Amino acid sequence: MANKQHNSGRLLHLLLTFAAVLLCIAILAPQWLVMQGSRSMSPINFFGTHRDSERSRNMAQQPALDALQSQIGQCVNTNGLGLKAKAKGPCRIVLEYPEGTNSTWYNQQFKIFEPLEYEFDVCETLLLWEQYRNVTTILTREYLDARPDGWSDYAALRIAQLGTKKCYNVSLCEELLELVLPPRPPFRPLQFATCAVVGNSGDLLKTWFGEDIDSHDVVIRDNEAPVNKKFAEHVGLKRNFRLIARGVARNMLKVAKGSADEVLIIKSLIHKDLNEMIKELPNPVYLFQGVVFRRGAKGTGVKSLELALSMCDSVDMYGFTVDPGYTEWTRYFSTPRKGHNPLQGRAYYQLLECLGFIRIHSPMRESKKQNWSVVPDKAMIYTAVDAARKLKREPNEHPEIVGPFNACKIWATASEKEGPLSGSLKMSEERKRSNYSKWEKLKITDLRPEAQARYNALQGVRLYKIDGNKLEDLLCIKPSGKQEM
Ligand SMILES: *[C@@H]1O[C@H](CO)[C@@H](O)[C@H](O)[C@H]1NC(C)=O
Ligand SMILES: *[C@@H]1O[C@H](CO)[C@@H](O)[C@H](O)[C@H]1NC(C)=O
Ligand SMILES: *[C@@H]1O[C@H](CO)[C@@H](O)[C@H](O)[C@H]1NC(C)=O
Ligand SMILES: *[C@@H]1O[C@H](CO)[C@@H](O)[C@H](O)[C@H]1NC(C)=O
Ligand SMILES: *[C@@H]1O[C@H](CO)[C@@H](O)[C@H](O)[C@H]1NC(C)=O
Repeated sequence: MANKQHNSGRLLHLLLTFAAVLLCIAILAPQWLVMQGSRSMSPINFFGTHRDSERSRNMAQQPALDALQSQIGQCVNTNGLGLKAKAKGPCRIVLEYPEGTNSTWYNQQFKIFEPLEYEFDVCETLLLWEQYRNVTTILTREYLDARPDGWSDYAALRIAQLGTKKCYNVSLCEELLELVLPPRPPFRPLQFATCAVVGNSGDLLKTWFGEDIDSHDVVIRDNEAPVNKKFAEHVGLKRNFRLIARGVARNMLKVAKGSADEVLIIKSLIHKDLNEMIKELPNPVYLFQGVVFRRGAKGTGVKSLELALSMCDSVDMYGFTVDPGYTEWTRYFSTPRKGHNPLQGRAYYQLLECLGFIRIHSPMRESKKQNWSVVPDKAMIYTAVDAARKLKREPNEHPEIVGPFNACKIWATASEKEGPLSGSLKMSEERKRSNYSKWEKLKITDLRPEAQARYNALQGVRLYKIDGNKLEDLLCIKPSGKQEM
């Protein structure tokens, strides 16, 4: 009996000591972490509970994210045409339209008009879009080869009317894809200095952006957007890239006519009939590659921005319906249609602008003149990316890997030289004689110095988003002959 009491006394003593030690750790660790804020690994994970470690990581990253939030707030208030930003914690931000804002978009399903308030995760948005600056958004042969289910499952998803869910006959799938399948990314990060992304908004007719748009190194257009003398002063004449949806791809011959060099990028699927058309076209034609999930903004414009950021240093956006007071969704070349929820998209684009990813041009902005000095500078963005990454991503399976390869989930090796160029033997003579594979043949040493520097910083590794994956996971392909990373 006495022995038992003695024992439970010792147990109590032990428990108290243990609790005291835990308390000390709980009090001291967060401060220790704040001081260690710039370290990539989070040491608290060894003994803290998950929630404790999350809270301490929050505290360590708070200053960088607070600074960003405050700058975003100033930027939205200055350039947002009535939008106001409210920070909610280190990563959450609410963008609010003024009382009385007209919402003309009515959701038939839920029987409501759009709300006037939108909450976004700044950290996720920052990480997601910053990642585009290092990835490719074109489907390639090396991607299909490297993805474990690349040829069997994924390739089948990119072919319409295949009749089967998998590519049971790989040579058939290869035959259907080969025309649009370059061996490696034909476009590289930072390949172009300035890009204009031109949407199809009817608002374009209210301004004279034509010359502005044409002054960019590269102009990216959307679907069947006409480019001709009639609209030249509003939308310009330059044609470099065009993203096309499946429905529009059917009219590809007509749409592409007038520019043999315009790169056509099909957003979704290839099929037999499209291939027959492509064989007759002199244009380079590729398939878009990237996650199909849409976050924040809806509509086709987002894909154009993804493409632009994956190869351009700076991105100017024209012709998106983003000004307050719209009454309908119009296109500059056709009658009004329905189908967007513009308030949410508008808020999201404003957030992207105030994170330094794009510059928005619109009739109301043009008359008011934007003040770009309120957009956070690169140094602030990089610091915030680092903080957001620590907060959201680490500690992960490989806390020691920071920087561009942090999100690499699948690694593969491929040569820079191997792989046939896109195309097939059955092409028309016109296509064979054209410059359809010009971008695939470009050497790294032919790129602008900034693109070469980025190529070297990435050690020649090609990064791809993994389609169908909700996270920011990447598939990373390193050139063979290079040392292990
Ligand atoms: C697989 O597809 C190729 C190319 O279309 C065709 O020649 C071949 O007969 C197919 N094989 C089978 C087993 O169906
Ligand atoms: C809302 O729409 C009405 C009718 O079209 C218009 O008179 C009013 O000015 C609009 N209000 C705002 C804030 O744009
Ligand atoms: C831009 O905004 C900043 C901060 O509000 C202000 O200090 C600066 O004077 C503005 N510049 C112009 C050209 O309006
Ligand atoms: C992109 O690559 C550069 C060069 O390696 C690197 O410094 C940067 O952190 C990368 N960005 C992201 C978001 O991974
Ligand atoms: C291919 O491009 C070169 C230079 O960009 C140009 O001079 C040539 O005319 C083009 N060839 C065809 C067939 O378009």
